[in-house]
Amino acid sequence: MRHPLVIGNWKLNGSKKFIDTFIAGLCHNLYGIEGCKVVIAPPMVYLDQAKKAMYNSTLLLGAQNVDMHHLGAFTGEISVSMLKDIGVKYVIIGHSERRSLHLEDDQVVAKKFFALKNTDLIPVLCIGETAAEKMAGKTKTICARQIDVILQLHGANVFQNTVIAYEPIWAIGTGCAATSEQIQTIHKFIRDHIAQKDSKVADQLIIQYGGSVTKNNAAEIFSQPDIDGVLVGSSSLRLDSFIEIIKLISTRKHKI
Ligand code: 13P
Repeated sequence: MRHPLVIGNWKLNGSKKFIDTFIAGLCHNLYGIEGCKVVIAPPMVYLDQAKKAMYNSTLLLGAQNVDMHHLGAFTGEISVSMLKDIGVKYVIIGHSERRSLHLEDDQVVAKKFFALKNTDLIPVLCIGETAAEKMAGKTKTICARQIDVILQLHGANVFQNTVIAYEPIWAIGTGCAATSEQIQTIHKFIRDHIAQKDSKVADQLIIQYGGSVTKNNAAEIFSQPDIDGVLVGSSSLRLDSFIEIIKLISTRKHKI
């Protein structure tokens, strides 16, 4: 089912103290707020602690990555079943920082996507173009390529109950978010692209935007019909900003 979704991607930030303080504050401030699912994706080492801190709340746990393998000699990796064991629900894959800094290509991301689809964990597939690709007018080609690797291998049905996060790389951490019109154009393109194979799957697909989302631009971004939520980096580390973003989005729940 399509529903508004806000995910806080904490990247390489946080500490034991930060997790407990932040999640307690979030639970307190979001009590009674409905209409929007809220996910926190802390660093792996804090997943279990974060899950315990969320106890008795509607917050959901996300992971920032997963390995494509299920078990064995893969030093430093974490498997789908381990994430499930801890209580993770959403898993970010294909983030541009992993694609560029850890050399994860479309094939690797497709394998991770499929590993998650064998369980009830929800992949959050990140796609998006660089500044140079945008300048060259290649945004749609790049987004289509990143989706097609999965579409061609597994068909449209694997996008049932999944999330795609459109995160233009030039907007991440720059303070320069895409405009709501730019985002809407690409989100509609993504939905139409999948609808060519299966319109029912495309209709229920949650498409989030990520890249310099703040409390000042969240409402405007979320005003467009194909923008189902936001994947937030730095603003998800500031409690007041993150609460404000969630409140702005949950009050617009009528849209979907
Ligand atoms: P910022 O919100 O810091 O730009 O990060 C976006 C992001 O990469 C979320 O995954």
